[in-house]
Amino acid sequence: MTAPDARRPGARLALERVGHRYGATRVVEDVDLDIAPGEFVSLLGPSGCGKSTLLRILAGLLRQSEGMVRIDGEDVAGLPPADRGVGIVFQNYALFPHMTVAANVAYGLQARGRGDRSSIREAVGRMLETVRMSAYAGRYPRELSGGQQQRVALARTLAVNPRILLLDEPLGALDKNLRLDMQIEIRRLQRELDITTIMVTHDQEEALSMSDRVAVLNAGRLEQFDAPAAIYDRPATPFVATFVGTANLLPARLARAGDGYAAQAEAGGALALPQASPCSRPGPVLVAVRPEQWELADAQADAGATLAATVQLVMPLGPSLVADLALAGGASVKLSLPRAGAPALSHGMPVRLRLRPGAAPAVFIA
Ligand SMILES: Nc1ncnc2c1ncn2[C@@H]1O[C@H](COP(=O)(O)OP(=O)(O)O)[C@@H](O)[C@H]1O
Ligand SMILES: [Mg+2]
Repeated sequence: MTAPDARRPGARLALERVGHRYGATRVVEDVDLDIAPGEFVSLLGPSGCGKSTLLRILAGLLRQSEGMVRIDGEDVAGLPPADRGVGIVFQNYALFPHMTVAANVAYGLQARGRGDRSSIREAVGRMLETVRMSAYAGRYPRELSGGQQQRVALARTLAVNPRILLLDEPLGALDKNLRLDMQIEIRRLQRELDITTIMVTHDQEEALSMSDRVAVLNAGRLEQFDAPAAIYDRPATPFVATFVGTANLLPARLARAGDGYAAQAEAGGALALPQASPCSRPGPVLVAVRPEQWELADAQADAGATLAATVQLVMPLGPSLVADLALAGGASVKLSLPRAGAPALSHGMPVRLRLRPGAAPAVFIA
């Protein structure tokens, strides 16, 4: 019998060439991930890209069609969920409605025969304190708000002391302000307990703000696995550039120019690039320019290093001025400037765009 309070450090988790098919339909392909003990990783991607399937494979609720899952180096094929040391929390809290908060949290400990009655009561008390729900121990789920129910669901999962915490869109049902509080709360708990955590989300802000690393998935494939800042600043693919944040994908021809590069835009005009990455091969490319990487040049600026555009729509958005512009040929481009000191823009106004000093947009093979 394991004492309910024996804290174990988070486990290392590895997926090796994991693939999955439902019948003949392949929904996960060739996914490799190596997750360090205590790391917080998000699986981020659009609806239907295979995030929940991967999580269910990790939990042992689903057997992958291909590849291997290792926990602390060991192949866990055939190991049932209860023997993997994983805890899972879903979006719909799945609390037992006829049980109090305390009974819900005690449930897993009792079911696993972890400790006698008084040690279970103590563990439940400690867990409720950890999720700041001590005052609600005697309430029933229907007497709690969504956020409170999700705290109880977390406490119930964490009470059995898993070494890996799996979260499937855990905050999807909460409104925006409550989400932010819960994001901070989950991250605090995760750090405090030092538990390896994989969270599924389709919300890029949530993934970027909470994670040590983010795995971006598209149609069952891993597009990039990197720290949040790297995902945003150095997207590996056009999909990542446009799914995480906003990017204008400009078709252009890349050529060397002095120490850097010049991109001759298909729409006319050109951009001077200090570097070209991940692709620097001369030829047809897509340049992924973030709205905040633009600046306005004056009308006399060198046409060889600017793009001509016409203002379509101007939107003041808090600290930023966001504008939708049309390039020659009609392609639309988004621009974001700090509102303080921004020039007055109006519909129909001709402008010239260039890259802000130091801006290094990603360049992809077209
Ligand atoms: N049990 C199932 N049987 C058949 N197809 C499924 C099943 N579960 C999910 N799918 C399909 O697999 C794909 C990936 O689903 P899922 O992993 O739930 O995606 P996500 O969590 O990223 O939204 C989707 O196209 C979905 O319709
Ligand atoms: Mg899902």
